[in-house]
Amino acid sequence: MSHSVRITGTGSYLPKKVLTNKDLEKFLDTTEEWIFSRSGIRQRHIAAEGEFTSDLAEVASREALKSAGRQASDVDLIVVATTTADQVFPSTACLLQNRLDIHGCPAFDVQAVCAGFLYALDVAYRYVVTGASRCALVVGAETFSRILNWEDRSTCVLFGDGAGAMLLEAADTPGILSSHIHADGAFKDLLCVPVGVSTAYQELLDGRAYTEMQGKEVFRWAVSTLGDAVIEILESNGIHQSEIDWLVPHQANIRIINAIAKRLELSMDQVVVTIDQHGNTSAASVPLAFDVAVKDGRIKSGDKIIFEAFGGGFTWGSMLVQI
Ligand code: ACO
Repeated sequence: MSHSVRITGTGSYLPKKVLTNKDLEKFLDTTEEWIFSRSGIRQRHIAAEGEFTSDLAEVASREALKSAGRQASDVDLIVVATTTADQVFPSTACLLQNRLDIHGCPAFDVQAVCAGFLYALDVAYRYVVTGASRCALVVGAETFSRILNWEDRSTCVLFGDGAGAMLLEAADTPGILSSHIHADGAFKDLLCVPVGVSTAYQELLDGRAYTEMQGKEVFRWAVSTLGDAVIEILESNGIHQSEIDWLVPHQANIRIINAIAKRLELSMDQVVVTIDQHGNTSAASVPLAFDVAVKDGRIKSGDKIIFEAFGGGFTWGSMLVQI
């Protein structure tokens, strides 16, 4: 049986420690002005020593459950999007399941880097829409600071840590209207951590698994690919851009966000921007931004929203949702 799928709860968490651009100036050959003008970032949050992705995910999840008026025992599916799992295994979703004292329901991670949350939402949406799940917990959580080379100014200034969560539930009224995810592994070398368990385990153990990015190329592809992605979602739903109330984009670079808003002919007042405060939190960025705009009252019931994200792989996705 097919249901509508609504977002019934939302939550987020940011580690306490804030690292400003000024702080970065103290140990990197960079300036507040360069970082802000090239990326739109002013500060990012950094997980404390001993604070892990599952810790961030747990707080965001509990908040999402609370905002939906649900108990953990109502959850029958857990999908966690992360690039920075606590352990090689079990999955962060299983660790989270244990923290929440949930037993028996499927729990798994998905890995699509910065597009990870849209991948996780897509999967959970398809479970709920087909009736295989009635209440799905979807989380994007990252301690991205752990896979950065803090001596590489071209990457480390861009990222931060955080988590966001949503609860998806079967409903009678429309919620998620359509979801589209894509990948093209031909671009695997432009944005990557080039080592892993199978290829270079010692580097992993030594903490030398760092993010590498050809920024200019990634920027160019992100703008053109996401531009096409938002047009795809409008066309497949037969709606005009003037019907969109909000764009909640992945927060990688304010100049990419501006370009996509322009493509949709949206004013920046209709775009949720958190990059100045959060930096790029990878899979956590979309649910974090959504939670901010729900909490401050900008996003209201009935609003039509586009989520979009682009990340390593390349991977990308978009979703149209009525709140
Ligand atoms: N401070 C000062 N100077 C710097 C810094 C820094 N932190 N970083 C780089 N520079 C220098 C470079 O060395 C370069 O110097 P050079 O010209 O002497 O060689 C100069 O600044 C210019 O760099 P550009 O590459 O022209 O800077 P650009 O305007 O392209 O901005 C940026 C760089 C911000 C990385 C941009 O390219 C970008 O945002 N790329 C896309 C990021 C993205 O979308 N990622 C996808 C998601 S992330 C994921 O999936 C994990």
